[in-house]
Amino acid sequence: MEHPAPPIIGRIVSGIQPSGRLHLGNYMGAVKNWIELQERHDCFFFIADWHALSTNYEDTRRLRSHVTEMLADWLSLGLDPERCTLFQQSHVREHAELYLLLGMMTPVAWLLRNPTYKDQMVQIENRDLAMYGFLGYPVLQTADIVLYRPTHVPVGQDQVPHLELAREIVRRFTSLYGEVFPEPLPLLTETPKLPGLDGRKMSKSYGNCVFVSDTAEAVWEKLRTMKTDERRKRRNDPGNPEDCPVFSLHGSFTPLPVIREIDRGCRSATIGCIDCKKILAEGVEALLAPARARRREIESRPGLLSEVLEAGRAKAAREAERTMEKVREAMKIS
Ligand code: TRP
Ligand code: SF4
Repeated sequence: MEHPAPPIIGRIVSGIQPSGRLHLGNYMGAVKNWIELQERHDCFFFIADWHALSTNYEDTRRLRSHVTEMLADWLSLGLDPERCTLFQQSHVREHAELYLLLGMMTPVAWLLRNPTYKDQMVQIENRDLAMYGFLGYPVLQTADIVLYRPTHVPVGQDQVPHLELAREIVRRFTSLYGEVFPEPLPLLTETPKLPGLDGRKMSKSYGNCVFVSDTAEAVWEKLRTMKTDERRKRRNDPGNPEDCPVFSLHGSFTPLPVIREIDRGCRSATIGCIDCKKILAEGVEALLAPARARRREIESRPGLLSEVLEAGRAKAAREAERTMEKVREAMKIS
């Protein structure tokens, strides 16, 4: 029986920088949530290619392929261009126009005290980040958001300061020129950091990732060779799941009752590590096998990715243009 479509609750905007193939941490951290949101909200999700330049302005050779790889991953996981608007930031030039205008009224002091700015300046050592664009990153992000006048922005804990800054910039705009933008509210999503194959946070720079586009063989090879609790040298040695990166991954892919069994089995040496890893692989494959099937479909339709981006651009541009008319009017420009 057909269910009536649930009513749209609000408008959502979010983006991710294109960094190439998505890994399971990216999925758990954002895309999984987006796939749920697209059912109930009017969602705008974009590939933040201009943002990628804020830390990678020197070498742009892989930028284009990173964009298409990411879009293919999004679609294969279940983001559906029929249910949400998927587009590329640089295709909608209004992001740049609004960024410029907001930059005129954003105090530099607000940007200098942005915690992400301070952290990354210290953490990223191999690149010179003393750039205007890097400092202005949150202004561009504010433009990205308010251009679509969303009710909510899904954010992880680490992005809360950025959204707070966006809200401050909106308030300043309103006090200077009148109300054009509603203040976007954070939609806090609990996204536990997904551990990688070595137990540290899953991240490309650590080389500890399972990619959404990995083959089943590649996934198994990665899981099979993972380190486990050192106490389990032999099959009969009991272990402690708390000291095992395999066990931490079960937390995101295995049903709770099974996790409990593994916990007991590990401590009593009634389950072996290979069996434990096989159960993990099943959980990962429950996500990745259907994604592979969709990817094959996508690959069999050349031109699909550009069609999706073009349709998304048209929808996003319509909204963006509507907002910019109000902005220009409020600021008495042209
Ligand atoms: N800052 C986000 C990231 O690092 C990307 C991003 C750019 C974004 N603009 C945004 C996220 C607007 C949410 C809303 O991935
Ligand atoms: Fe880790 Fe599982 Fe082996 Fe225990 S049984 S050490 S949880 S892989």
